[in-house]
Order: sequence, then C-alpha cells, then structure tokens
Amino acid sequence: MKKTILFTSLLAVFGCMNAQNTTHIPQLGKDKIENVIAAMTQQEKVYLLMGLGENNWLNPPTGEKTVIIAGEAGLTWAIPRLGITPTVLTDGPAGLRIESHPEGLNYTRYCTAFPTATALASTWNTELVENVGKAMGNEVLEYGSDCLLSPAINIHRNPLSGRNFEYYSEDPLIAGKMGAAMVRGVQTNGVGTSLKHFAANNIETNRKTINAVISQRALREIYLRGFELVVKESQPWTVMSSYNRLNGFYTSENYDLITTILRDEWKFEGMVMTDWWGGADAVAQMNSGNDMIMPGCNQREELLNALKNKIIDEKVIDRNLTRILTFILKTPRFKGYVYSNKPDLKSHLQISKNAASEGMVLLKNDKNTLPFKNIKSIALFGKTSYRYIAGGTGSGEVNYEYANTINESFEKNGYKVAKQLELIYKHFIDTVSKTATKDNRKFIVDFHAELPLSKEQIAAQVKSTDVAIITIGRNGGEGWERKLTEFNLTETEKQLIKNISETYHAVNKKVIVVLNIGGVVATADWRDYPDAILLAWQTGQEGANALVDILNGKVNPSGKLPMSFPMNYSDVPSAKTFPGEPADNPVNAVYSEGIYVGYRYYDTFKIPTAYEFGYGLSYTQFKYSNIQLSNKEFQNEITVKLTVQNTGKTAGKETVELYLHAPNVEIGKPVQELKGFAKTGLLKPGESQEITFTLDARSLASFWTNSSSWVAEKGTYEVRIGASSKDIRLTSEFILPQTVIVEKVHQVLYPNRPVTDLTLSLK
Ligand code: BGC
Repeated sequence: MKKTILFTSLLAVFGCMNAQNTTHIPQLGKDKIENVIAAMTQQEKVYLLMGLGENNWLNPPTGEKTVIIAGEAGLTWAIPRLGITPTVLTDGPAGLRIESHPEGLNYTRYCTAFPTATALASTWNTELVENVGKAMGNEVLEYGSDCLLSPAINIHRNPLSGRNFEYYSEDPLIAGKMGAAMVRGVQTNGVGTSLKHFAANNIETNRKTINAVISQRALREIYLRGFELVVKESQPWTVMSSYNRLNGFYTSENYDLITTILRDEWKFEGMVMTDWWGGADAVAQMNSGNDMIMPGCNQREELLNALKNKIIDEKVIDRNLTRILTFILKTPRFKGYVYSNKPDLKSHLQISKNAASEGMVLLKNDKNTLPFKNIKSIALFGKTSYRYIAGGTGSGEVNYEYANTINESFEKNGYKVAKQLELIYKHFIDTVSKTATKDNRKFIVDFHAELPLSKEQIAAQVKSTDVAIITIGRNGGEGWERKLTEFNLTETEKQLIKNISETYHAVNKKVIVVLNIGGVVATADWRDYPDAILLAWQTGQEGANALVDILNGKVNPSGKLPMSFPMNYSDVPSAKTFPGEPADNPVNAVYSEGIYVGYRYYDTFKIPTAYEFGYGLSYTQFKYSNIQLSNKEFQNEITVKLTVQNTGKTAGKETVELYLHAPNVEIGKPVQELKGFAKTGLLKPGESQEITFTLDARSLASFWTNSSSWVAEKGTYEVRIGASSKDIRLTSEFILPQTVIVEKVHQVLYPNRPVTDLTLSLK
C-alpha cells in the first residue's frame, strides 16, 4: 500500500539529517549552486545523485514509503535544510500516468489518454503534436508533477519490437521532428520532459542487458539522428539513458555517448538520468555524465564508498549535482506552484479527438466505399468493436476515465448497431473478463484470442444491416516483443474477414476492416477481401468517436504511414537477426542491415511492400504543381517551393513529402531519403496552398566512418516531391559542384564485435 506524505512531512523527515553547525546554511535558489553543493555532506551528495522509485522501496532513514503523487514513476531526493525540494517524475508518452483513485483522496485524478506516439506521427503534423504536448503538459503541471518521462523516440527497427507504439517512426527525421514538437508543447507549461531512451533501445528481449552492435554510420544516420534533432531544436530538460548496452557498454556508462556526443557535439544543457534500474556500475555512470541514477537506492553505499576512497573524483560528483540542482531549480514544485488538481480535461478530450482523427490512415477504399452513403444499420464484428484499445501497457499506459467504444459511438451518432451480434460479443467479453486477476483486468480482452463465428451467425446479420465492420485488435507493451503470431492475423481472424466479406458481397453490401492496433500487422494475405481498410491505431480514449467521424465523412482522413507495412515478416531487413543471438536468450544483437531500415531498405533493394512508407488515402484528390528551386547550384541551402491544390469535391488536408536522391560516388546510399515534410491546412475544393521546404547542407550529407564526418558528395541531387515514398508527383534537380565536409565529429562508439553492414554496390 502506498502512503501519501506531503512535502511538509518530508521536511520533518529529512530536516534533521546531517545538520551542520554553520551560521549561514546556503539555500538553493537564494545562494549560488556551488555554495549549496559545498555545504553538503558526502552522504547528502550521494543521496541526491539517486532518485526514489515508485513505491520507494528503500527510503532511508525512516524506511517509510514516500509518495507525493500516487502512480508517479519516481522522485528526486530532497534536502530541506539546503532548500532542496523533492521533484516528481511521471510517465509517459501517451499522457500522464498516475493513479486515478489514490488511497486517502476523496476525488479522482483521471488523465487524458491521447493517441500513442505512432498514431501521432501518422498525422505528419508537428503543430498538432505540439498542441497535444501543451495539453499533456498542463495535466503534468496541474496534477503536481514536475517532469514527464516522454517523448520516447527510438526507431521502429523491427515490427515485432514491443514498444514501437510508444515510438514514432522508422525514420529519424519524423521521430526527431515529432519529438521536438512534443518537447516544445509540454515544456511551455514550465514543466520538464525526458527524451528517452538514449540510445538504440529497439529490443525488449533481455532489455536490461542486450548489447546492440551497430556500425558508427548506422548509429549516426539512423539511431542517434532523431535525438540530435530534438536536443538541437527543443532542449528537453532531461534525457533518459536506455537499458541496453551499445557496442559493448551500457549507454548510461558511456562517456562518449552521454558527454562527447550529447553534450559536447549537440550542446545538451540539461540533466541525464538512467532508465529505472538501468546499467550496472554507478561509478561509471557518474563518470559518463549520467547525472542521476533512477531509482538508485541500491547504489548509495557503493557510491559513498567510492567517494570516501577517492575511487571517484568529487569534482565529477559536484558537476553532476550541479545539473540535478539546475533541473530542480526550474521545476514548479521548487518554485512553490500550487497545483489545482483540475487540469482542463474537457478541452484536452477535444485535442485528443482531433489528433486521433488526423492520425488514422485509410489504407484501402475500393469504389469509394467510404465515406458511408445511405448507411443506417451496422453489423459490428470483432471483440474490439465493443472494447476499443485506447493505448498500450506499461509506462505508456494512461489511467483515463472512460474510452468510448465503437458500438457506442455509432449509436451516439444515430446508427443502428446489430443487437443480437452485440449480445454475442458482450457475453464473450464478460466471460473473458471474469477470468481476470486484479492486475490484468484492463487488458485481458485485448490479449485474448478472437471469438470465432459460424457462417450461420454471420449470415444472420446480413439482411438487417447495410454494412459490416470488422475490428481487429492488438495490444502490447514494454518488457516483451510481440510474437510473430500477433503480427500475423490468426486463422480465426482471417476466416472472419473472408466469411463476412463473402456473405456481404453476395448481396452487394460492403465490408470494412478497422485495425485497432499498436504496431504493424500483416495485411497482404487478407486485404483483398474487404472493400475498405481503416488503420485506426490506438488513438486514445476518443479514438472510437474519431473513427466514426471518418467513416461517416465528417472528417476526411489525412493520416499517412510513418513506417512501411511489409508484405511478409520475412521481408523485414532485421527479420533474421531480431531480437538477437543466441536466439533463445540473446546477448548480442547485430544490426547488420546498417542504415537500410524500413523504406531505405525496401526502396533501395526493390522489395515490394504491402503499404509503403508515407502512404495514406483521402476522400479527395490533390494536384501537385509548379516545383521551383531557389538555385540550380547548392550553396549553403536551397529552397524548394511547390503548390498543392485540392482538385476533388471534399475539403481535406494533404501531407507533402520531400525525398532526396543523392549521388553515389564514394559510399552507397539509400535510393532516397525523407528530408522534409509538411501538412497543408484544410483545403476546400479548388483551394491551393504553397509549400516551402529548406534543405541545408546536413540534408545532403551521409556519415563517413573513416573520417568521422558528415560529407555531402558532389554531383546531381534529385528532389522528389511525393504523396508517399512511391507516389512521387514532382521532381527537380540541383548540383553540388564540390564535395563538402559539412561537419566533423568525434571518432567514437566503435562496435565491440564485427559488424558488416548491408551495402549497396555503387553504380
Ligand atoms: C521504462 C521507462 C519509464 C520508466 C519509469 C521503465 O521501465 O523503460 O520508459 O519511464 O520505467 O516508469
């Protein structure tokens, strides 16, 4: 049981600790940080280098649990005699994660479940993501937290990776731009963020020990690039190092990663904390510049001894403490902010709904099946039609008040939902729910196998309904990968799609599949059956309402895929090496596909995909025209302009994607890479908008390992403007007359085992 103790009692608990006989005791905020640190005992220093975790198992000296907000992920240590308040750290990427019914409170603290990061990335709308961040940050502030442990921006390297739903994309530009927008939004509230998990945390199997072996080029171009963008654009208050090892070292113990790259090269100004219980060697973590160990109570003795025995330089400790104190100084709790416990949940619901409708991706729409025409009654198949999956599990979970379900949303909008079918599914859901324990109640239905239906049960619905909708659901979370059997649709699901399609098509009625999923699934072996497929993702508690608005045409879909949907799992470039070796208990994971992740691989090696990166349909059409480059020769930057016009009959938004095809002179490169994207406003039929992109020298450059530099090779560059990575509408060219070393960086992070990257033979 958790115990809520207010800050006043913390003062009482810690106030008497290590009191010193000085007349003036420096106070944080009033005196210089260095004087505050100078006034600390060694024990106080060590305690401040460690946080406390959820439930605070080991909270010396009282042994009591100290909880400020039930459900918090952790706290920073308080030293009241020096004016150092505790601060509260809370998850996570899809909204604030705290307990909604904390013991001892006579009110509830619900939070808004926003769409998952993958769904947000599918909007390709950074302004929208910034707004979601603003709303999330308001909940962080008004529920009394100081820092949101988000955004999580690791790359979707493999579709089975359990945490993909918490992450944005297979492409680092999208991950970086979305992450930067989220940081800006949250931090406008005067609360912090923690950019995580730094870095190369793409595997959940043995996640606390697995060694990711990655070439320096793939690291720089793919796995670090997003972090670089967020740090340079938005300066998150904190960064969270990851659990995994990277090229032999725990990331939290790696000076080259945490200091040389993050701080020296990218100019990160904030504090670095470990992931919860991450890493092994507290002294190495301190030396690397990983300032705070979370929750860290276990390492107190170890660090104190290291300090006393001069195994660690006290200057290193003081440097890290300076960063922790600089963080604390900025927080609302330190500034004495009186939080209301009343964030504007109503307006956040609307923000969540708008984000949900913009994040859904229309994958198929044969013969304009959608939006609905003359549809009054609906047969809803699939358990998740009656139990919408708003988000994933683990630290990405949110304790929201209520998630609308698809059946309820249809009824609210005046549709008739087939009742007998509803009863069958509700009975199934009730039966499954009865087997739940306290811990798996919320998710048991999501993870349970789908209910098979006989052909007769299906046939019984056809007469009285105008259309069939089949919802396929998937959930997942941190700590484990999704199984291949979860990536593929089960035989029951495929049979349902086939039988329902055949039955409805026989009487000229349409079938729509809705994918209420967190990560990519197989589509190639069933997608021919239904008339339309809407990828709804896990889009928060308003997802079902947003979905109905798309199906009935109130909202024109504008989401596009921030990752590729492969034809088969075996086509995925990391399929053979994921999660690692040895396969039954992986120690190392060799990223031998190198930079060829996602579309960089499929496009370059001409592997067909089911739905390509950047793909998504609309109810209207857009014409792209008038591409203009500011120059034919590249100097410091080049501007690309074009016009997008809505040539259809429905108002809509369009995502415009800029890919660059670079010359292959010295090193192999992906055939094209995303270098810019923009979303239009809501264009009325006939309306146009001019779009402008700016390409800087880094956009032209690849990472050359031997010289450890970003190099733009001389030659002709082709600018490709597309509605997807395959649907290129306009092209133009410019020339770079001389090869340019754009930036020289440190020669660090060598792989500790041989890794031969997949390469492209040069033409
Ligand atoms: C997760 C982090 C999370 C932390 C605190 C860890 O298990 O990897 O993403 O922020 O727990 O809840």
